[in-house]
Amino acid sequence: MNKPLRIALTKGRLEKDTVGLLEKIGYDCTAVREKGRKLILPVPDGNLEVVLAKANDVITYVEHGVCDLGVVGKDTIMEMQGTFFELVDLGFGRCRFALAAKKGSSFYGGYKVKTVATKYPNITRNYFESKGMDVDIVKIEGSVELAPLLELADGIVDIVETGTTLKENGLEVIEDIVPISARLIVNTVSMKLRQHEIESLVDLVESRL
Ligand code: PRP
Repeated sequence: MNKPLRIALTKGRLEKDTVGLLEKIGYDCTAVREKGRKLILPVPDGNLEVVLAKANDVITYVEHGVCDLGVVGKDTIMEMQGTFFELVDLGFGRCRFALAAKKGSSFYGGYKVKTVATKYPNITRNYFESKGMDVDIVKIEGSVELAPLLELADGIVDIVETGTTLKENGLEVIEDIVPISARLIVNTVSMKLRQHEIESLVDLVESRL
């Protein structure tokens, strides 16, 4: 048998949804479910090796070819870009990017250049460039909703899933930007060298979506 295909999963919810999908295919994911603090786990009947990583690192490992495949959110793909194939929309991890601001504030009002806080400066820059609008962007690492509450920013560009975080903090969506979901990505060289195995896995995945 060939060496296992190595697949990097984004730790957390996407990891759980991907394991659920692999189990639907019929693979035994016990080692991943009982991983403890281990970061590389076998899925022997699928001839897979699961690597658990942070979202940005999933892309880095796949781009460098040390992982053949990866499961990562479209948000991270749009922010990081990079060279790989995006093969399948896995349909889970659904949410959206939105521009939000304090309830009742007029984000587009006035002449002052607006300040926008975000974990995703590239996406935010592209979004406002496409509108021809000049904004100052401040990079925040998490809980971006704080920035308008602390009056650091006029608005935020962030992920909205249920809308609860915005609501409970007195913010509201001004505009939806783009829908997001988890994607299966593949290293470009692996796609050539291990095409048959990858296509078989993709067929199985697509049959269970
Ligand atoms: C994400 C996002 C929002 C929240 C949206 O944050 O940045 O804060 O989830 O979810 P909701 O619409 O269902 O309330 P995450 O939980 O990943 O934490 P972070 O802000 O610290 O990155």
